[in-house]
Amino acid sequence: MNVSILGTGYVGLTTGACLAFLGHNVTCVDADHEKIAVLERGGVPFYEPHLAELLADAHPNLCFTSEYAEAIPPAQVIFIAVGTPPGKDGAPDLRYLEAAAHGIGKHLTGEFAVVVNKSTVPIGSGNWVGSLVRDKACEKAKGRFAVASNPEFLREGTALHDSLYPDRVVIGADEEQTAEVLYTLYRPILDQTFQAPPYLPRPEELGAVPLISTDLASAELIKYAANAFLALKISYINEVGQLSEKVGADIAQVAKGIGLDARIGTRFLQAGIGWGGSCFGKDTAALIATASEYGLEMPIVKAAREINRRQRDRVVEKLLSELKILKGRTIGLLGLAFKPHTDDLREAPALDIARKLIERGARVKAHDPVAMDRFRKESESNGRLAEVFCCETPEDVAREADALVLVTEWPQYRELDWEPLAQIMHTAIVLDGRHALDRTRLTRAGFRYVGIAC
Ligand code: UDX
Repeated sequence: MNVSILGTGYVGLTTGACLAFLGHNVTCVDADHEKIAVLERGGVPFYEPHLAELLADAHPNLCFTSEYAEAIPPAQVIFIAVGTPPGKDGAPDLRYLEAAAHGIGKHLTGEFAVVVNKSTVPIGSGNWVGSLVRDKACEKAKGRFAVASNPEFLREGTALHDSLYPDRVVIGADEEQTAEVLYTLYRPILDQTFQAPPYLPRPEELGAVPLISTDLASAELIKYAANAFLALKISYINEVGQLSEKVGADIAQVAKGIGLDARIGTRFLQAGIGWGGSCFGKDTAALIATASEYGLEMPIVKAAREINRRQRDRVVEKLLSELKILKGRTIGLLGLAFKPHTDDLREAPALDIARKLIERGARVKAHDPVAMDRFRKESESNGRLAEVFCCETPEDVAREADALVLVTEWPQYRELDWEPLAQIMHTAIVLDGRHALDRTRLTRAGFRYVGIAC
Protein backbone atom coordinates (compact mmCIF):
# COMPACT_ATOMS: atom_id res chain seq x y z
CA MET A 1 0.00 0.00 0.00
CA ASN A 2 1.05 3.63 -0.41
CA VAL A 3 1.58 5.15 3.01
CA SER A 4 2.61 8.65 4.06
CA ILE A 5 3.72 9.49 7.56
CA LEU A 6 3.72 13.05 8.83
CA GLY A 7 6.38 13.60 11.48
CA THR A 8 9.72 11.81 11.75
CA GLY A 9 10.06 11.61 15.54
CA TYR A 10 10.35 8.32 17.44
CA VAL A 11 6.83 7.24 16.53
CA GLY A 12 6.73 8.45 12.90
CA LEU A 13 10.14 7.22 11.85
CA THR A 14 9.81 3.86 13.60
CA THR A 15 6.40 3.31 12.01
CA GLY A 16 7.77 4.34 8.61
CA ALA A 17 10.79 2.05 8.86
CA CYS A 18 8.67 -0.94 9.97
CA LEU A 19 5.95 -0.50 7.32
CA ALA A 20 8.55 -0.04 4.57
CA PHE A 21 10.39 -3.13 5.83
CA LEU A 22 7.10 -5.05 5.53
CA GLY A 23 6.90 -4.05 1.85
CA HIS A 24 4.67 -0.97 1.81
CA ASN A 25 5.69 2.16 -0.14
CA VAL A 26 6.34 4.72 2.54
CA THR A 27 6.93 8.46 2.34
CA CYS A 28 8.09 10.13 5.55
CA VAL A 29 7.37 13.84 5.79
CA ASP A 30 8.85 16.44 8.10
CA ALA A 31 8.76 20.23 7.97
CA ASP A 32 12.32 20.25 9.30
CA HIS A 33 14.49 20.28 6.13
CA GLU A 34 17.62 19.50 8.10
CA LYS A 35 16.08 16.30 9.48
CA ILE A 36 15.00 15.24 5.99
CA ALA A 37 18.53 15.86 4.70
CA VAL A 38 19.98 13.68 7.50
CA LEU A 39 17.51 10.89 6.67
CA GLU A 40 18.22 11.11 2.95
CA ARG A 41 21.91 10.64 3.69
CA GLY A 42 21.07 7.45 5.61
CA GLY A 43 21.44 9.06 9.03
CA VAL A 44 19.05 8.92 11.99
CA PRO A 45 18.28 12.16 13.86
CA PHE A 46 18.13 10.47 17.30
CA TYR A 47 19.50 7.39 19.02
CA GLU A 48 17.36 4.27 18.78
CA PRO A 49 18.93 0.80 18.66
CA HIS A 50 18.80 -0.87 15.20
CA LEU A 51 16.84 1.95 13.56
CA ALA A 52 19.68 2.81 11.16
CA GLU A 53 19.89 -0.86 10.12
CA LEU A 54 16.16 -1.21 9.58
CA LEU A 55 16.02 2.05 7.59
CA ALA A 56 18.87 0.76 5.42
CA ASP A 57 17.09 -2.58 4.85
CA ALA A 58 13.83 -0.80 4.05
CA HIS A 59 15.56 1.80 1.87
CA PRO A 60 14.08 0.68 -1.51
CA ASN A 61 10.54 1.28 -0.17
CA LEU A 62 11.22 4.57 1.59
CA CYS A 63 11.46 8.19 0.61
CA PHE A 64 11.69 11.43 2.58
CA THR A 65 10.30 14.85 1.80
CA SER A 66 9.11 18.12 3.31
CA GLU A 67 6.41 18.54 0.66
CA TYR A 68 2.81 17.57 1.38
CA ALA A 69 2.13 18.04 -2.34
CA GLU A 70 4.40 15.07 -2.98
CA ALA A 71 3.31 12.88 -0.06
CA ILE A 72 -0.48 13.24 0.20
CA PRO A 73 -1.96 12.71 -3.31
CA PRO A 74 -0.74 9.10 -3.85
CA ALA A 75 -1.29 7.97 -0.24
CA GLN A 76 -3.98 5.42 0.66
CA VAL A 77 -3.10 5.74 4.34
CA ILE A 78 -1.80 8.95 5.95
CA PHE A 79 -0.43 8.70 9.48
CA ILE A 80 -0.26 11.81 11.63
CA ALA A 81 2.70 11.29 13.96
CA VAL A 82 3.58 14.88 14.76
CA GLY A 83 4.52 16.06 18.25
CA THR A 84 1.83 16.95 20.78
CA PRO A 85 4.04 18.51 23.48
CA PRO A 86 2.56 19.47 26.84
CA GLY A 87 0.87 22.86 26.74
CA LYS A 88 -0.56 25.03 29.48
CA ASP A 89 -2.76 23.36 32.17
CA GLY A 90 -1.66 19.89 31.17
CA ALA A 91 -3.60 19.89 27.91
CA PRO A 92 -1.36 19.04 24.92
CA ASP A 93 -0.38 21.70 22.42
CA LEU A 94 -2.16 20.70 19.22
CA ARG A 95 -0.79 23.25 16.78
CA TYR A 96 1.30 20.70 14.82
CA LEU A 97 -1.65 18.33 14.64
CA GLU A 98 -3.83 21.15 13.32
CA ALA A 99 -1.24 22.13 10.69
CA ALA A 100 -0.91 18.49 9.60
CA ALA A 101 -4.70 18.08 9.25
CA HIS A 102 -4.96 21.29 7.23
CA GLY A 103 -2.03 20.22 5.03
CA ILE A 104 -3.71 16.87 4.34
CA GLY A 105 -7.02 18.53 3.50
CA LYS A 106 -5.40 20.89 0.99
CA HIS A 107 -3.73 18.06 -0.91
CA LEU A 108 -6.38 15.31 -0.96
CA THR A 109 -7.31 14.50 -4.54
CA GLY A 110 -10.59 12.60 -4.13
CA GLU A 111 -9.11 9.08 -4.14
CA PHE A 112 -10.23 7.34 -0.92
CA ALA A 113 -7.67 7.84 1.87
CA VAL A 114 -7.59 6.97 5.57
CA VAL A 115 -6.14 9.59 7.90
CA VAL A 116 -4.77 7.90 11.01
CA ASN A 117 -4.01 9.59 14.31
CA LYS A 118 -0.87 7.94 15.64
CA SER A 119 0.19 10.85 17.85
CA THR A 120 -1.21 10.68 21.36
CA VAL A 121 -4.16 13.00 20.96
CA PRO A 122 -6.87 14.11 23.38
CA ILE A 123 -10.03 12.05 23.37
CA GLY A 124 -12.31 13.43 20.68
CA SER A 125 -9.46 14.48 18.39
CA GLY A 126 -10.52 12.04 15.68
CA ASN A 127 -13.64 14.07 15.03
CA TRP A 128 -11.73 17.32 15.29
CA VAL A 129 -9.05 16.20 12.80
CA GLY A 130 -11.83 15.09 10.45
CA SER A 131 -13.40 18.53 10.52
CA LEU A 132 -10.04 20.26 9.95
CA VAL A 133 -9.27 18.06 6.93
CA ARG A 134 -12.76 18.64 5.55
CA ASP A 135 -12.46 22.44 5.96
CA LYS A 136 -9.49 22.53 3.58
CA ALA A 137 -10.49 19.72 1.20
CA CYS A 138 -11.80 20.38 -2.31
CA GLU A 139 -15.45 19.41 -3.01
CA LYS A 140 -14.42 16.15 -4.70
CA ALA A 141 -12.33 15.03 -1.71
CA LYS A 142 -14.69 16.09 1.11
CA GLY A 143 -16.54 12.78 1.47
CA ARG A 144 -13.66 10.61 0.24
CA PHE A 145 -11.59 10.24 3.36
CA ALA A 146 -12.07 8.74 6.81
CA VAL A 147 -10.32 9.18 10.13
CA ALA A 148 -8.99 6.36 12.31
CA SER A 149 -7.05 6.14 15.56
CA ASN A 150 -4.14 3.73 15.86
CA PRO A 151 -2.36 4.49 19.13
CA GLU A 152 1.29 3.62 19.52
CA PHE A 153 2.64 1.74 22.54
CA LEU A 154 6.32 1.61 21.64
CA ARG A 155 8.95 2.25 24.27
CA GLU A 156 11.99 4.26 23.33
CA GLY A 157 15.05 2.04 23.34
CA THR A 158 12.98 -0.96 22.19
CA ALA A 159 10.84 0.90 19.66
CA LEU A 160 11.40 -1.46 16.73
CA HIS A 161 10.88 -4.61 18.73
CA ASP A 162 7.66 -3.16 20.20
CA SER A 163 6.42 -2.18 16.71
CA LEU A 164 7.19 -5.46 14.93
CA TYR A 165 6.16 -7.71 17.86
CA PRO A 166 3.48 -5.72 19.70
CA ASP A 167 1.36 -7.08 22.56
CA ARG A 168 -1.67 -5.86 20.60
CA VAL A 169 -2.71 -3.59 17.74
CA VAL A 170 -5.51 -1.12 18.49
CA ILE A 171 -7.55 0.28 15.63
CA GLY A 172 -10.31 2.79 16.28
CA ALA A 173 -12.67 3.70 13.45
CA ASP A 174 -16.32 4.50 13.19
CA GLU A 175 -16.83 2.66 9.85
CA GLU A 176 -15.90 -0.93 8.97
CA GLN A 177 -14.41 0.07 5.58
CA THR A 178 -11.87 2.32 7.33
CA ALA A 179 -10.81 -0.34 9.80
CA GLU A 180 -10.38 -2.85 6.95
CA VAL A 181 -7.79 -0.67 5.23
CA LEU A 182 -5.73 -0.78 8.41
CA TYR A 183 -6.16 -4.54 8.88
CA THR A 184 -4.68 -4.98 5.40
CA LEU A 185 -1.81 -2.66 6.26
CA TYR A 186 -0.99 -4.48 9.49
CA ARG A 187 -1.73 -8.03 8.27
CA PRO A 188 1.98 -9.09 8.23
CA ILE A 189 2.32 -7.95 11.86
CA LEU A 190 -1.01 -9.38 13.01
CA ASP A 191 -0.23 -12.77 11.45
CA GLN A 192 3.56 -12.49 11.98
CA THR A 193 4.19 -13.63 8.40
CA PHE A 194 7.21 -11.42 7.65
CA GLN A 195 10.78 -12.65 7.83
CA ALA A 196 12.29 -11.22 11.01
CA PRO A 197 15.45 -9.13 10.56
CA PRO A 198 18.48 -10.93 12.07
CA TYR A 199 19.12 -8.10 14.53
CA LEU A 200 15.48 -8.15 15.75
CA PRO A 201 14.59 -11.82 16.15
CA ARG A 202 10.97 -12.75 16.73
CA PRO A 203 10.29 -13.78 20.36
CA GLU A 204 9.88 -17.56 20.41
CA GLU A 205 6.60 -17.53 22.30
CA LEU A 206 4.92 -14.98 20.00
CA GLY A 207 1.84 -16.16 18.11
CA ALA A 208 -0.69 -14.07 16.20
CA VAL A 209 -0.93 -10.53 17.57
CA PRO A 210 -4.33 -9.66 19.11
CA LEU A 211 -6.29 -6.95 17.33
CA ILE A 212 -8.58 -4.60 19.23
CA SER A 213 -10.97 -3.11 16.74
CA THR A 214 -13.09 -0.42 18.29
CA ASP A 215 -14.65 3.02 17.90
CA LEU A 216 -12.53 6.18 17.74
CA ALA A 217 -13.11 7.42 21.29
CA SER A 218 -12.30 4.02 22.85
CA ALA A 219 -9.02 3.75 20.94
CA GLU A 220 -8.05 7.24 22.06
CA LEU A 221 -8.89 6.46 25.68
CA ILE A 222 -7.00 3.13 25.58
CA LYS A 223 -3.74 4.97 24.94
CA TYR A 224 -4.13 7.34 27.89
CA ALA A 225 -5.49 4.72 30.23
CA ALA A 226 -2.61 2.34 29.39
CA ASN A 227 0.10 4.91 30.01
CA ALA A 228 -1.56 6.18 33.19
CA PHE A 229 -1.83 2.61 34.49
CA LEU A 230 1.87 1.95 33.89
CA ALA A 231 2.68 5.23 35.64
CA LEU A 232 0.45 4.17 38.56
CA LYS A 233 2.28 0.87 38.86
CA ILE A 234 5.62 2.64 39.13
CA SER A 235 4.32 5.14 41.67
CA TYR A 236 2.66 2.38 43.64
CA ILE A 237 5.90 0.44 44.03
CA ASN A 238 7.70 3.66 44.91
CA GLU A 239 5.12 4.42 47.60
CA VAL A 240 5.47 0.89 48.98
CA GLY A 241 9.24 1.42 48.70
CA GLN A 242 9.11 4.29 51.19
CA LEU A 243 7.46 2.03 53.73
CA SER A 244 9.78 -0.83 52.81
CA GLU A 245 12.75 1.36 53.68
CA LYS A 246 11.28 2.19 57.09
CA VAL A 247 10.48 -1.39 58.06
CA GLY A 248 13.74 -2.79 56.66
CA ALA A 249 12.15 -4.87 53.88
CA ASP A 250 13.75 -5.63 50.52
CA ILE A 251 11.70 -3.84 47.86
CA ALA A 252 13.04 -6.01 45.01
CA GLN A 253 11.73 -9.11 46.77
CA VAL A 254 8.48 -7.36 47.62
CA ALA A 255 8.00 -6.38 43.95
CA LYS A 256 8.74 -9.95 42.84
CA GLY A 257 6.45 -11.38 45.46
CA ILE A 258 3.50 -9.27 44.42
CA GLY A 259 4.32 -9.28 40.69
CA LEU A 260 4.30 -13.06 40.35
CA ASP A 261 0.59 -12.92 41.00
CA ALA A 262 -0.53 -13.10 37.37
CA ARG A 263 -3.29 -10.59 38.12
CA ILE A 264 -0.60 -8.02 38.94
CA GLY A 265 2.39 -8.91 36.73
CA THR A 266 6.08 -8.29 37.40
CA ARG A 267 6.74 -5.53 34.87
CA PHE A 268 6.81 -1.82 35.74
CA LEU A 269 7.38 -2.59 39.40
CA GLN A 270 10.99 -1.46 39.46
CA ALA A 271 11.33 0.96 42.38
CA GLY A 272 13.61 3.98 42.10
CA ILE A 273 13.54 7.68 41.35
CA GLY A 274 10.46 7.31 39.20
CA TRP A 275 9.45 7.82 35.64
CA GLY A 276 10.58 10.40 33.10
CA GLY A 277 10.20 10.60 29.34
CA SER A 278 7.82 12.26 26.96
CA CYS A 279 4.76 10.13 27.69
CA PHE A 280 3.88 9.38 31.29
CA GLY A 281 4.04 12.97 32.55
CA LYS A 282 2.27 14.39 29.53
CA ASP A 283 -0.38 11.69 29.25
CA THR A 284 -1.30 11.66 32.93
CA ALA A 285 -1.61 15.46 32.82
CA ALA A 286 -3.74 15.26 29.68
CA LEU A 287 -6.01 12.61 31.22
CA ILE A 288 -6.59 14.83 34.24
CA ALA A 289 -7.23 17.83 31.95
CA THR A 290 -9.75 15.91 29.82
CA ALA A 291 -11.53 14.57 32.91
CA SER A 292 -11.83 18.06 34.34
CA GLU A 293 -13.57 19.23 31.16
CA TYR A 294 -16.28 16.73 32.13
CA GLY A 295 -16.30 17.82 35.77
CA LEU A 296 -14.37 14.73 36.90
CA GLU A 297 -11.33 14.49 39.14
CA MET A 298 -8.80 11.70 38.77
CA PRO A 299 -7.43 11.45 42.31
CA ILE A 300 -5.51 8.22 41.70
CA VAL A 301 -3.71 9.60 38.66
CA LYS A 302 -3.01 12.86 40.51
CA ALA A 303 -1.48 10.92 43.40
CA ALA A 304 0.75 8.95 41.01
CA ARG A 305 2.11 12.23 39.66
CA GLU A 306 2.70 13.63 43.12
CA ILE A 307 4.58 10.50 44.26
CA ASN A 308 6.72 10.68 41.14
CA ARG A 309 7.59 14.31 41.86
CA ARG A 310 8.53 13.45 45.45
CA GLN A 311 10.91 10.67 44.39
CA ARG A 312 13.17 13.28 42.81
CA ASP A 313 13.13 15.37 45.99
CA ARG A 314 14.11 12.27 47.93
CA VAL A 315 17.42 12.11 46.07
CA VAL A 316 18.32 15.58 47.32
CA GLU A 317 17.04 14.78 50.84
CA LYS A 318 19.12 11.61 50.99
CA LEU A 319 22.27 13.39 49.84
CA LEU A 320 21.64 16.11 52.39
CA SER A 321 21.23 13.58 55.14
CA GLU A 322 24.52 11.85 54.14
CA LEU A 323 26.61 14.97 53.54
CA LYS A 324 24.82 17.38 55.94
CA ILE A 325 25.77 20.35 53.75
CA LEU A 326 25.32 20.49 49.99
CA LYS A 327 26.84 23.92 49.40
CA GLY A 328 30.29 23.51 47.85
CA ARG A 329 29.95 19.73 47.50
CA THR A 330 30.52 17.96 44.19
CA ILE A 331 27.86 15.48 43.15
CA GLY A 332 28.38 13.18 40.17
CA LEU A 333 25.43 11.95 38.14
CA LEU A 334 25.74 8.68 36.26
CA GLY A 335 23.19 8.85 33.47
CA LEU A 336 21.23 11.74 31.99
CA ALA A 337 18.76 10.10 29.58
CA PHE A 338 15.34 9.37 31.06
CA LYS A 339 16.09 5.66 30.75
CA PRO A 340 18.79 3.44 29.22
CA HIS A 341 19.17 2.86 25.45
CA THR A 342 17.95 6.30 24.41
CA ASP A 343 19.41 9.80 24.22
CA ASP A 344 16.03 11.35 25.02
CA LEU A 345 16.19 13.92 27.82
CA ARG A 346 12.55 14.92 27.93
CA GLU A 347 11.36 15.00 31.56
CA ALA A 348 14.54 13.15 32.51
CA PRO A 349 14.86 12.90 36.31
CA ALA A 350 18.58 13.75 35.98
CA LEU A 351 17.77 17.27 34.79
CA ASP A 352 15.45 17.96 37.68
CA ILE A 353 17.89 16.53 40.20
CA ALA A 354 20.81 18.51 38.73
CA ARG A 355 18.78 21.72 38.91
CA LYS A 356 17.76 21.11 42.53
CA LEU A 357 21.36 20.36 43.55
CA ILE A 358 22.75 23.44 41.80
CA GLU A 359 20.09 25.60 43.46
CA ARG A 360 21.38 24.31 46.80
CA GLY A 361 24.91 25.35 45.95
CA ALA A 362 26.35 22.00 44.86
CA ARG A 363 28.59 21.52 41.84
CA VAL A 364 27.21 18.87 39.48
CA LYS A 365 29.21 16.68 37.13
CA ALA A 366 27.55 14.20 34.77
CA HIS A 367 28.14 11.44 32.27
CA ASP A 368 25.91 9.47 29.92
CA PRO A 369 27.02 6.90 27.33
CA VAL A 370 24.88 8.38 24.51
CA ALA A 371 23.04 11.50 25.65
CA MET A 372 26.03 13.82 26.28
CA ASP A 373 25.93 15.63 22.93
CA ARG A 374 22.23 16.18 23.13
CA PHE A 375 22.57 17.36 26.73
CA ARG A 376 25.30 19.86 25.79
CA LYS A 377 23.11 21.29 23.03
CA GLU A 378 19.91 21.41 25.04
CA SER A 379 21.40 22.70 28.29
CA GLU A 380 23.34 25.57 26.70
CA SER A 381 20.46 27.99 27.07
CA ASN A 382 18.61 26.11 29.78
CA GLY A 383 19.14 28.25 32.88
CA ARG A 384 21.20 26.62 35.59
CA LEU A 385 21.54 23.34 33.71
CA ALA A 386 24.27 25.07 31.69
CA GLU A 387 26.36 24.86 34.90
CA VAL A 388 26.48 21.05 34.80
CA PHE A 389 30.01 19.92 34.05
CA CYS A 390 29.98 17.27 31.29
CA CYS A 391 32.50 14.44 31.76
CA GLU A 392 33.86 12.07 29.13
CA THR A 393 34.04 9.06 31.45
CA PRO A 394 32.51 7.81 34.71
CA GLU A 395 36.02 8.12 36.22
CA ASP A 396 35.98 11.86 35.52
CA VAL A 397 32.62 12.09 37.27
CA ALA A 398 33.94 10.27 40.32
CA ARG A 399 37.20 12.21 40.65
CA GLU A 400 37.04 14.41 43.80
CA ALA A 401 33.25 13.92 44.02
CA ASP A 402 31.49 13.79 47.39
CA ALA A 403 28.84 11.39 46.13
CA LEU A 404 27.76 9.57 42.97
CA VAL A 405 24.11 9.16 42.02
CA LEU A 406 23.09 6.39 39.63
CA VAL A 407 20.26 8.13 37.77
CA THR A 408 19.96 5.97 34.63
CA GLU A 409 20.62 2.24 34.88
CA TRP A 410 22.78 1.87 31.76
CA PRO A 411 24.25 -1.69 31.79
CA GLN A 412 27.81 -0.31 31.58
CA TYR A 413 27.38 1.41 34.95
CA ARG A 414 26.51 -1.90 36.58
CA GLU A 415 29.76 -3.32 35.26
CA LEU A 416 32.02 -0.46 36.39
CA ASP A 417 35.24 -1.23 38.19
CA TRP A 418 34.07 0.38 41.42
CA GLU A 419 37.16 -0.06 43.57
CA PRO A 420 39.39 2.48 41.77
CA LEU A 421 36.42 4.87 41.65
CA ALA A 422 36.07 4.78 45.43
CA GLN A 423 39.77 5.69 45.73
CA ILE A 424 39.54 8.84 43.59
CA MET A 425 36.43 10.23 45.28
CA HIS A 426 36.46 12.73 48.08
CA THR A 427 33.93 10.66 49.98
CA ALA A 428 32.95 7.31 48.51
CA ILE A 429 29.16 7.47 48.68
CA VAL A 430 26.90 6.03 46.01
CA LEU A 431 23.18 6.70 45.87
CA ASP A 432 21.58 3.97 43.77
CA GLY A 433 18.57 5.78 42.32
CA ARG A 434 17.46 2.79 40.26
CA HIS A 435 17.94 -0.06 42.64
CA ALA A 436 20.26 -1.46 40.02
CA LEU A 437 23.65 -1.90 41.72
CA ASP A 438 24.99 -4.74 43.81
CA ARG A 439 25.13 -3.44 47.38
CA THR A 440 27.57 -6.14 48.56
CA ARG A 441 29.96 -5.51 45.68
CA LEU A 442 29.90 -1.75 46.23
CA THR A 443 30.39 -2.07 49.96
CA ARG A 444 33.36 -4.38 49.35
CA ALA A 445 34.77 -1.80 46.92
CA GLY A 446 34.79 0.73 49.76
CA PHE A 447 31.55 2.59 49.11
CA ARG A 448 28.86 3.62 51.48
CA TYR A 449 25.80 2.35 49.57
CA VAL A 450 22.60 4.38 49.90
CA GLY A 451 19.46 3.15 48.17
CA ILE A 452 16.07 4.52 47.31
CA ALA A 453 13.53 2.22 48.91
CA CYS A 454 16.16 0.10 50.65
C1 UDX B 1 6.15 4.67 27.58
C2 UDX B 1 5.22 3.45 27.46
O1 UDX B 1 5.85 2.30 28.02
C3 UDX B 1 4.86 3.20 25.99
O2 UDX B 1 3.95 2.13 25.89
C4 UDX B 1 4.21 4.48 25.48
O3 UDX B 1 3.73 4.37 24.21
C5 UDX B 1 5.19 5.64 25.60
O4 UDX B 1 5.55 5.80 26.97
P1 UDX B 1 8.74 5.17 27.25
O5 UDX B 1 8.41 6.51 27.82
O6 UDX B 1 9.55 5.08 26.01
O7 UDX B 1 7.38 4.36 26.94
O8 UDX B 1 9.52 4.34 28.37
P2 UDX B 1 9.19 3.25 29.49
O9 UDX B 1 10.02 2.07 29.26
O10 UDX B 1 7.74 3.02 29.63
O11 UDX B 1 9.75 3.99 30.80
C6 UDX B 1 9.21 5.23 31.26
C7 UDX B 1 9.87 5.67 32.54
O12 UDX B 1 9.49 4.86 33.62
C8 UDX B 1 11.41 5.61 32.50
O13 UDX B 1 11.93 6.79 33.09
C9 UDX B 1 11.75 4.41 33.34
O14 UDX B 1 13.01 4.53 33.95
C10 UDX B 1 10.62 4.43 34.36
N1 UDX B 1 10.33 3.09 34.92
C11 UDX B 1 9.88 2.08 34.12
C12 UDX B 1 10.47 2.87 36.30
O15 UDX B 1 10.85 3.77 37.05
N2 UDX B 1 10.16 1.63 36.81
C13 UDX B 1 9.71 0.61 36.02
O16 UDX B 1 9.45 -0.47 36.58
C14 UDX B 1 9.57 0.84 34.64
